[in-house]
Amino acid sequence: MRVLVLGSGGREHALVRSLSRDPDVTALHCAPGNAGTAALADNHVLDPTDPVAVVELAQRLMAQLVVIGPEAPLVAGVGDALRRAGFLCFGPDAAAARIEGSKAFAKEIMQAAGVPTADAHVCESAREVREALDAFGPPYVVKDDGLAAGKGVVVTEDRAAAERHADECERVVIEEYLDGPEVSLFALTDGTTVVPLLPAQDFKRAHDGDKGPNTGGMGAYTPLPWAPADLVDEVVRTVVQPTVDELRRRETPYTGVLYAGLALTSKGVRVIEFNARFGDPETQVVLDRLATPLAGLLQACAVGGLGSAPALEWRPGAAVTVVIAAENYPGKPATGDPIAGVEEAEAVEGAYVLHAGTKLHEGLPVSAGGRVLNVVGSGPDIAAARAAAYTAADRIRLRGAHYRTDIAAKV
Ligand code: AMP
Ligand code: GLY
Repeated sequence: MRVLVLGSGGREHALVRSLSRDPDVTALHCAPGNAGTAALADNHVLDPTDPVAVVELAQRLMAQLVVIGPEAPLVAGVGDALRRAGFLCFGPDAAAARIEGSKAFAKEIMQAAGVPTADAHVCESAREVREALDAFGPPYVVKDDGLAAGKGVVVTEDRAAAERHADECERVVIEEYLDGPEVSLFALTDGTTVVPLLPAQDFKRAHDGDKGPNTGGMGAYTPLPWAPADLVDEVVRTVVQPTVDELRRRETPYTGVLYAGLALTSKGVRVIEFNARFGDPETQVVLDRLATPLAGLLQACAVGGLGSAPALEWRPGAAVTVVIAAENYPGKPATGDPIAGVEEAEAVEGAYVLHAGTKLHEGLPVSAGGRVLNVVGSGPDIAAARAAAYTAADRIRLRGAHYRTDIAAKV
């Protein structure tokens, strides 16, 4: 199978790595990719949100499957354009990707499907904002309705800060605060059948102890030894399957991976958000554990027939990933700094390095984004995986870089 992966982050490097190990994959391309994917696939310079350019590249490569990594191309209709041109595509059409692209739409679907989530008000004026903040009380949860790369949400006790963020948003969703631990669950779907992957946990705040601003995610681990044994079944039954069924009923069937961001609250499981793609950096740990070859699975989502695929196989043990972030991330990151120590990091047993915001400069990797590398450690349990990840992370040399030291520490 000739496969093209769109995107350039750590998630895409993880996808490319898994696909490169699948004997069914005969050619592997990535666009635009990063310095890590360049070692496993042919990178192509391209704007992945440009449907015309993507279809042209898929035609030139005679791609038999296009895997869309990030949300922006999905929301821009790249999946629609590929399917119209006759390509198999992993990732939903724009109409279904609105489940991530618009928080108000996601709420509407959840309400129609009876999916448990935070109560919310969609506000279009300052008066509506004030009323909603009064109604819910602190802590305030204020969300930009549109895509914001994980940074559109402010959770704060500070009323003035909540109003300030609401002011900056065109359309704003204000909602009930959900307490309890967060879980990310990815489910593959062909529009009808749902196949859940292992649950993972992500660390969204920039600094140790969940302090500092929200980021795209600073680390992750899987599995979750503390989670209830029936959690995945419950989430499939009460969240994922009803959502997929509702989208099919509306004639905007959802294919690809549906990512449910969940809070396990004192009142039960609640959806915090849906994403129309794999999570980053949770994918890096989930794919580390997946033993089933990836290409056939992703293809089954695109073609249909996921229901007759054999049950997934998982490697026993655990994986932890630590994000090495550039100086000043999540603010405007420093870029262009040389990256060293990757080989030394990969000499640690059970550890390897995935590239995220990197590119090749005169043949050598340099930083090119906020989240620069993901160091992945795996082992028989979380403690071993964590030790491998941190021993390896310590060996990376990048000027001004920072990483959290408490990923999976409390497990
Ligand atoms: P989102 O972009 O919707 O994933 O939100 C980013 C982060 O904000 C989430 O991972 C949560 O930590 C936090 N958050 C979002 N919505 C809520 C909520 N209703 N209650 C508490 N925390 C929330
Ligand atoms: N890890 C959070 C996200 O992918 O949105």
